[in-house]
Amino acid sequence: MSKPLRVFPSNLSTQKILGNALRPEDAEQDYIKSNNYYQWYYTIGWAVQPIVIAEFGVRYGYSLVALCRGARSVFTSFPLPSVLGWDAETDVAGSNTIATENLCGLVHDVSIVKASTSGLVNADLPIRIADIVHIDADHSIKGVKQELRLAGTLHKRRGWILVDDTEVGYIADAVVDFAESNDYSFQELPTLRGMMILRLN
Ligand SMILES: C[S@@+](CC[C@H](N)C(=O)[O-])C[C@H]1O[C@@H](n2cnc3c(N)ncnc32)[C@H](O)[C@@H]1O
Repeated sequence: MSKPLRVFPSNLSTQKILGNALRPEDAEQDYIKSNNYYQWYYTIGWAVQPIVIAEFGVRYGYSLVALCRGARSVFTSFPLPSVLGWDAETDVAGSNTIATENLCGLVHDVSIVKASTSGLVNADLPIRIADIVHIDADHSIKGVKQELRLAGTLHKRRGWILVDDTEVGYIADAVVDFAESNDYSFQELPTLRGMMILRLN
């Protein structure tokens, strides 16, 4: 069994973590006001110190900003992470450009591809490159299963998969099924909407 990642939410406010990336129209959203959401990404970044982060579902890049800021929170000499993202822009047209701007200065390089994860196959993706893969795009049962399969290709042997929104029963079920079928350990974090973290045994 892989050891769990021992993390806790940062006590920084969401405004502090996201800085200028935070859009005024989002200020009243529960994921901003709760201070129980991006705080976890920040400490996961701190704990994992990722060199490469991949994400399905980027929108404005908030979760990536929090992971990247957390990664550099202690050792500012640590190399800036590289970021790969996929987002179909179904929520907001042009959000990939905004996310890229939000990540400038926090990353070594960033590439966000406008694509639906439903059309991706393993051959479209780099193999075993990411220290962290974050799944937060297509929240249908079929979509989550597809993104878990793709994440399995992307992460390094000792990398981590993070799955958001696991308070939704079918998402948690899909994660448990994937973990048990592919020999991953998993743990749950009490974030605003629930997050499960997986690592290969
Ligand atoms: C919940 S938002 C991501 C939020 C982001 N991770 C954060 O915390 O700031 C979900 C994003 O996934 C995108 N999306 C939804 N379905 C998708 C799909 N099938 N493939 C790729 N992107 C998708 C939407 O356009 C939206 O930007």
